[in-house]
Amino acid sequence: MKIAIIGLGYVGLPLSIQFAQSGVTVLGIDIDARKVKLLNDGQSYIRHIEAAVIAELGQTGKFSASTDFSRVSEAEALMICVPTPLNKNREPDISYVLETGRSIAPHLARGALVVLESTTYPGTTDEELRLVLEEGSGWKAGLDFHLAFSPEREDPGNDKSKVKSVPKVVGGYTPACLERAVQLYGRAVDTIVPVSSCRVAEATKLLENIFRSVNIALVNELKLVYEAMGIDIWEVIEAAKTKPFGFMPFYPGPGLGGHCIPIDPFYLTWKAREYGRNTRFIELAGEINTSMPQHVVQRVADALNSQRKPLNGSRILVLGLAYKPNVDDERESPSYVLMDLLSERGAAVEYYDPYVPTINPTREHPHWAGKKSVTWDKETIESFDLTLIATNHACINYEDLGIWAPLIVDTRNAMAGLKVRSAKVWKA
Ligand SMILES: NC(=O)c1ccc[n+]([C@@H]2O[C@H](COP(=O)([O-])OP(=O)(O)OC[C@H]3O[C@@H](n4cnc5c(N)ncnc54)[C@H](O)[C@@H]3O)[C@@H](O)[C@H]2O)c1
Repeated sequence: MKIAIIGLGYVGLPLSIQFAQSGVTVLGIDIDARKVKLLNDGQSYIRHIEAAVIAELGQTGKFSASTDFSRVSEAEALMICVPTPLNKNREPDISYVLETGRSIAPHLARGALVVLESTTYPGTTDEELRLVLEEGSGWKAGLDFHLAFSPEREDPGNDKSKVKSVPKVVGGYTPACLERAVQLYGRAVDTIVPVSSCRVAEATKLLENIFRSVNIALVNELKLVYEAMGIDIWEVIEAAKTKPFGFMPFYPGPGLGGHCIPIDPFYLTWKAREYGRNTRFIELAGEINTSMPQHVVQRVADALNSQRKPLNGSRILVLGLAYKPNVDDERESPSYVLMDLLSERGAAVEYYDPYVPTINPTREHPHWAGKKSVTWDKETIESFDLTLIATNHACINYEDLGIWAPLIVDTRNAMAGLKVRSAKVWKA
């Protein structure tokens, strides 16, 4: 069997590897020629994906990459894993999905299965994508080709979460489409969860991400309330999570990051308007989560003030640029917002992140592009008035940090359990 996976990023590449390792021949397609070349040279551009795995699958002929969309004609099934961001008005931007649909439609093999994996609002697959595919191919979905939606549940950096072992929700445009999709995923994934339509599958993914966003907002709000009461939210969560039923721990932080949780819920908000419905929980969670960086910056100012220093003119080191621990993905990272707010108030800001040695250009924070991580040594760290822990990478030696840094603001409880003078560490 030969399949094509379109969009070889944080979702498409692990998915390609899992199918190739399951004996399926995978053609990866991406518009980024640099990525295609790296993959065909047996290299990786994602830290937690080993180059050796890609090289081996390349040598056995199970995986190759291309920029040539006409080659989808070789594939029995195609999976679309391209970005679904928000535009500058914070509305869904499904242009990447539709562009991909236009690129593949003229080359579809009769009877092929097309599965959308990108997170999106209910209706994208059976309305917009279907129309683009039908127009471009001159065929009918459900008759001449099959169509399905199956959301990705990738959790980068989580060693326990593997594509094979995470159950896969699948919805088809017709019962026959569903059957084809269930068969396809059954080749590479242990547990398949069929649902009655593409829309149910799309809505399932949104529920999962909205659930996280709302619960993170809840602990972020409680953190502020408990902080005012002199109660440590982290200790509270540790105690609460000993309850064996009806509780699931979520942790506060400096704001939301990554390109799922801060974005996906607003796909539903936008679509809900079409039905005259409001999504108040989503809006409120977004409001609380996006206000967290301001709170953190205020704690930084308070910590410096306790040492008779103003924020203006102080040297601040932001520790961790990636949006979550142990990954190299800094898209939508709250660290950028923290760096912006701190420098707006006159601080001299640097960052340290071993996984992001240089800042890539971003649409929202172009002014930081090209900035380099400082080095990790005593002389450098002690030269900062304050270190702000934004991401708790496991590879960082927090004991050294506790000795070297004059003052620390910790948004991740990374300094818990270490012997450091209590006046030195401020939780935020
Ligand atoms: N990153 C995650 O942890 C995660 C988890 C679950 C779901 N998702 C969802 O999966 C989708 C993809 O996310 P990602 O993190 O893999 O994105 P990504 O940016 O890492 O990768 C997307 C890839 O698609 C390519 N691309 C863009 N337009 C293309 C086109 N027209 N044709 C072919 N290739 C194109 C890009 O070059 C890039 O390599 C999004 O909808 C996202 O919300 C992501």
